[in-house]
Amino acid sequence: MTVSIQRANDILQHAELLYSAQQVQDALRKVAQQINARLADTHPLVLSVMGGAVVFSGQLLPLLDFPLDFDYVHVSRYGDARRGGAMQWKVEPRENVRGRVVLVLDDILDEGQTLATLRERVLSLGASKFYSAVLADKQHGRKKPIHADFVGLELPDRFVFGYGMDIEGAWRNLPAIYAVKN
Ligand code: IMP
Ligand code: MG
Repeated sequence: MTVSIQRANDILQHAELLYSAQQVQDALRKVAQQINARLADTHPLVLSVMGGAVVFSGQLLPLLDFPLDFDYVHVSRYGDARRGGAMQWKVEPRENVRGRVVLVLDDILDEGQTLATLRERVLSLGASKFYSAVLADKQHGRKKPIHADFVGLELPDRFVFGYGMDIEGAWRNLPAIYAVKN
């Protein structure tokens, strides 16, 4: 279940705009260009991390100009909460990664647990190479177990929503990125 309409509207009204829709689109184009330059000859399997990467993936794929395969995994570390918890797998990586160059797409690199775990799983299933692209990298000053190969935007260490990312289940559909006011 998600929040009420009133609560969702109230959250948005009191939020701070961090990146406008135009700024997000500019970042998306930059990431697409970098991926096109690096992966064009690799026929990668692109794995989208549901649900947060749904908008990033949906808008990035049409900007990629080489043949690729597409699949998804579904893992949740936040649920409806605002702090990360244990990782919950809903759909795990599977056999089709074997022998492939894999490019994982996620919305945010935060502590890095999600991407680091995915890298380990995908490589242990026999992928030949692992790449990751994230729309945004959270700057919190702590050491991360993994760095993304392609990064669109930098974010402060705040809870954000919009452009695929939810707040209490709502607002994945916003074209821009917002932060809850502290
Ligand atoms: P990590 O494992 O700490 O790197 O967390 C990454 C995952 O947490 C991403 O897949 C995001 O979906 C989610 N996440 C991290 N920070 C936020 C946030 O501020 N808003 C919404 N989701 C977030
Ligand atoms: Mg996520």
